[in-house]
Amino acid sequence: MSTQLHQLQQEHLSRLQRDYAALLEEHRLDCLAIYSGHANAFFGDDQTPAFQTYGHFMHWVPLADVQHSWLVIRPHQRPQLYLYAPTDFWHLPTQLPEEPWVSEFDIHLCSDKRQPALEGHAAIIGDTTQLPDAHQHAQRNPDALVHGLDELRITKSAYEIACLREANRLAMAGHEAAQAAFLGASGELDIQLAYLAGSRQRESAVPYQNIIGLNDHAGVLHYQHYDLSPPKQRHSLLVDAGRRFRGYCADITRTHAGPDAPAFFAELVHALHGLKDGLVSGVATGADFVDLHEQMHRQLGDILVTHDLFRGSSDQAVAEGVTRAFCPHGLGHSLGLQVHDVAGLHQPDGSPAPPPSAHPALRLTRTLERDMVVTIEPGLYFIPMLLTPLRQQGLPINWTLVDHCLPCGGIRIEDNIVVTDQRPTNLTR
Ligand code: GLY
Ligand code: MN
Ligand code: MN
Repeated sequence: MSTQLHQLQQEHLSRLQRDYAALLEEHRLDCLAIYSGHANAFFGDDQTPAFQTYGHFMHWVPLADVQHSWLVIRPHQRPQLYLYAPTDFWHLPTQLPEEPWVSEFDIHLCSDKRQPALEGHAAIIGDTTQLPDAHQHAQRNPDALVHGLDELRITKSAYEIACLREANRLAMAGHEAAQAAFLGASGELDIQLAYLAGSRQRESAVPYQNIIGLNDHAGVLHYQHYDLSPPKQRHSLLVDAGRRFRGYCADITRTHAGPDAPAFFAELVHALHGLKDGLVSGVATGADFVDLHEQMHRQLGDILVTHDLFRGSSDQAVAEGVTRAFCPHGLGHSLGLQVHDVAGLHQPDGSPAPPPSAHPALRLTRTLERDMVVTIEPGLYFIPMLLTPLRQQGLPINWTLVDHCLPCGGIRIEDNIVVTDQRPTNLTR
């Protein structure tokens, strides 16, 4: 860990100390206990799925996989970290990293699954549903407090932005390895393995299940399998894959035209890169993300017209829902300790800010503020389930061209962007 990152982390922790103290005082709380969470075994089994630490715990403690642990915050006092560290010959015992941040906490290594004592007015946040009820007097996950804490995560400190930048650097090495594997005619599983090797991570550590779709699988938005064998023809590859660094997530998508794709598809991929770049340049303090999303639809309409997929006007393509059939997801979302980070669908005061009814999949509806980090991820897909209903409507869609593109599945290009008062910072470049 570089000295500079340590200094940034110290400033980040000082900011948390200050902001938590203000919030606890506002909510008349003497202490707040944050539970890391723990993995629950599959029903009737002793095996568990991969685990990730609760986001508000990781906001303080840069350990993405600690379980059965507690962090107790009291205004203007040193944070108390109760780290579960059983004496155990089945597993490697928990060890503290030799990193400067540990000196910012009073650390208690616990050999049992103890719940710390909480005095006065107390609250607990985290998934405590499976725990014995040791703190009956404490409020559990009070809405207003959790919204306030979520709000502290919507804008990122310089430390968090540095972590997101490093997560992007590591993920991009994976994307380059995945592209090389595609050029070498690998199938989905081998592209996934190349991605994991290139980004230096094991599969259980990924921030979300990597989407590795060849051909028409590129048109399945959250395609969840990896075919073992390469297909006979290679039209396209869509890779939506990330990486964590100290808990912070990269979320990057690239689409490549293959040797068997029509030249037209490669031109569309190029156009989507241009669309993404144009939308990124609109990311700035004060911009309304719903407006940016609607701008994506207008520009997608232009692309459909320019590339002869739609033989009407761009306005008609938007008004008749054609652009929504070609791109049914949102422009992007907030990014941080969770890949779809908290507070994207709330106003700063905690009141709900649901997506417009025409765009139910949009995960961020806020006015952008400096130091928010968002994804910008326009897409253009050939999804039979969404396009087939349009065939009966007599719309001026060039179905011959659409049918030509169906084997290519679709295109998504996704970058991770820091909002600033001037030009946005693209972490993915
Ligand atoms: N990887 C999920 C998303 O892009 O939102
Ligand atoms: Mn995303
Ligand atoms: Mn993604």
